[in-house]
Amino acid sequence: MRNIIITGGNDGLGKAIAELLSKKDNVIIISKKYDNAMRISKEIPNAECYTCDITKPDEVNDTIKTIIEKQGDIDILINNAGVWLAGDLTENTYEQISNCIDVNTKGPIYMTKAILPNMYEQGKGLIVNVCSQASFDSDDFSTVYNASKWAMRGFNRSIQKNVSKKGIKVTGFYPGFMQTNIFEKAGNDYDTSTGLEVEKVAKAIEFIINCDEDVIIPEFGIKDIENY
Ligand SMILES: NC(=O)c1ccc[n+]([C@@H]2O[C@H](COP(=O)([O-])OP(=O)(O)OC[C@H]3O[C@@H](n4cnc5c(N)ncnc54)[C@H](OP(=O)(O)O)[C@@H]3O)[C@@H](O)[C@H]2O)c1
Repeated sequence: MRNIIITGGNDGLGKAIAELLSKKDNVIIISKKYDNAMRISKEIPNAECYTCDITKPDEVNDTIKTIIEKQGDIDILINNAGVWLAGDLTENTYEQISNCIDVNTKGPIYMTKAILPNMYEQGKGLIVNVCSQASFDSDDFSTVYNASKWAMRGFNRSIQKNVSKKGIKVTGFYPGFMQTNIFEKAGNDYDTSTGLEVEKVAKAIEFIINCDEDVIIPEFGIKDIENY
């Protein structure tokens, strides 16, 4: 059984990935809020759940240290947690802008920095960074979100070159519009009915993590045919 950490595994895509992968692997869910961690530990009883705000470097480092002590070496990290932010830039508050960049960009970088020493020791490991089709597009309604996800594409490309020399694989994962609550949490009442179902997207993650050890998938995009 592999140890797989999934950030934001209490909802949406992260939860679907956790449900699917926990059938065969030891899934470790990172949830921002304690209540959600408690709830998800009942809903996915064979997953381990930890509370950690990925925007806080000390919390990230302490949580990863505890996980490695309790669960052993980490085989796979899935940086999935994210937040949505839309609206004209002049209407976005500094707090919203910071949170969007902190969760979507700095969070996965902090998580990767915390995990890499353990993967270096093993000489192997896989990191999947859930980005977005917004990592490629230039929408007029989500400037800061797009910036946060474009930054991750640059991070992926650069770190892939760096860590592949040490046996570690990094996949940039780029889903399109999905049927989740991410927009509602940000105060946007979008109709998500034409979005990808998260269970279908989770299958793509399952494919990536089950590739042969010497095969790297640098980039993986997935979209619903109605939103191509
Ligand atoms: N939905 C889409 O159309 C879409 C499209 C492309 C890419 N994506 C990306 O896919 C990923 C998953 O999003 P989703 O749609 O499944 O959204 P979701 O259902 O809202 O899930 C996001 C998860 O991230 C967690 N999170 C937020 N801030 C956090 C923090 N500071 N520390 C730890 N966890 C935190 C959330 O916790 P709470 O439950 O406490 O909020 C939640 O568990 C994100 O990276 C998103 O940007 C989404």
